[in-house]
Parts: sequence; C-alpha cells; structure tokens
Amino acid sequence: MSNVERFGISVPKDLIEEFDQIISRKGYTSRSEAIRDLMRDNIVEHSIAEDKEVIGTVTIVYNHHSRDLSDKLIDIQHNFHDQVIATTHVHLDHHNCAEVIIIKGKSSTVRQLADKLIATKGVKHGKLVMSATGKT
Ligand code: NI
Repeated sequence: MSNVERFGISVPKDLIEEFDQIISRKGYTSRSEAIRDLMRDNIVEHSIAEDKEVIGTVTIVYNHHSRDLSDKLIDIQHNFHDQVIATTHVHLDHHNCAEVIIIKGKSSTVRQLADKLIATKGVKHGKLVMSATGKT
C-alpha cells in the first residue's frame, strides 16, 4: 500500500479511552479502521449536504391490499426511472410487503423520491439510508 499516508493525532486521554471502548464493542480490531470509517462517513455527510451523487436505499413496509397502493408506488418509481437501479420485494405475510428500492443520483433527488414513496398513503413505515458511491 504505497498510497497510504500516516499521521499522528493528539487527543485527550478520556476521549480516546471512550472511543476505544466503543470501537471494540463494535468489533473493530484497529483504531485505524475505525477512524477511516469515520472519515468516510463524514465524506458521505458532506456529499449529501453538497448535493453530490449518492446511493440511497429506501425500505418501505406496506399492506398490498391498500387500494391502488402498489400501482402508485410503481408510478412514482417510473417517474424516477433514471435513478432507480434496483428493487427487491418480499412478501412478509398474507397482507404485508417489504420493498427495498436502490437509488443512485444527486442527494436531493434521492431524498425527493424517498419522501414521495414513504409519504404515500398506506405505507406503514419507511426509511432512507444514503451512502457514498464508493469512490473514496
Ligand atoms: Ni408482496
């Protein structure tokens, strides 16, 4: 790994102790990996704030017997056909479905689509998670 830069940082003892406890509980085997993940998380937050390209996953749970709901959800996705890259549908029981919609686009567009899906009448629960496109 030639394109790796090493750096030393000074932090208060109680801060690093608490940090070490948390990352150990999470299963990190090194501080470096935990700090790299924090940096990447920060870059994702920045990308979202700056309206850059992100990957979004929207999970929704709904009752497919709700009037016209499946059609409405499909219509919304067709209006964003350039951004929707995959969907997965799971039949949870006789009534309920879970769907995961994977979206690629500017963060504002991803959020707009997610908001529309989640706010559709009959959708019981929905959540959007945004991630980086993996370039860093
Ligand atoms: Ni279903």
